[in-house]
Amino acid sequence: MAFKVTWLGHGTYWLEIGAYKILLDPFIDDNPSATGSAADYDPDFILLSHGHMDHIADTAPIANRIGCLVITNVEISRWLRDGHGVENISGHQPGAGATFPFGHVEFTIAVHGSGLPDGAHGGLAMGFVIRAEGKTVYFACDTGLFSEMQWLGEYGLDAAFLPIGDNFTMGPDAALKAVQILKPKIAVPKHFGTWPPIEQDGAAWVKRVSDETDSEGVLMEINGTLEL
Ligand code: NI
Ligand code: MN
Repeated sequence: MAFKVTWLGHGTYWLEIGAYKILLDPFIDDNPSATGSAADYDPDFILLSHGHMDHIADTAPIANRIGCLVITNVEISRWLRDGHGVENISGHQPGAGATFPFGHVEFTIAVHGSGLPDGAHGGLAMGFVIRAEGKTVYFACDTGLFSEMQWLGEYGLDAAFLPIGDNFTMGPDAALKAVQILKPKIAVPKHFGTWPPIEQDGAAWVKRVSDETDSEGVLMEINGTLEL
């Protein structure tokens, strides 16, 4: 049993938690960083942080093909059910938590929009703290820096996956500050390099993490897997 994380590029991850497969923020077919296709993935669960296209894009096609449970916020749940035929949905809100077969998910706040691709109201953007297989792992998803990260820092995080792209989320400096208050064992950058507006030097950032904080900075490669 293990908690394995594979980066598919941008904000998209393939998680293997014990016997379960989870796709986080499915953006594959139109993701310039991804090498595979959405048709290759057969998750047991989809975790969806917010309504923006670069996170939600492949959710309905995969969910409708596989019938996996989509875990997201209440407003996106309704949008997927009423407009896109997704039946198997679990809707939540930031600040709440819920237990699933693979472990417990806390839906954290995220300072970010969540408008859906057709302009519908997508509720509030979220991040996830996943407790499973003896690990506590924070996926910040798209967010700016927020002071409640200090409380998440009391959880004893094994890992934090943080956006560093700037323009739409935390940039390198804010993400470094996030590492200082989250105090994870390892910090992994994401949501950069996909397009020119979010071009960043991931290697330089993880070096800063290791040099300037008590955490270890870890740079994942696309399709690379990290066992926590
Ligand atoms: Ni976004
Ligand atoms: Mn995004």
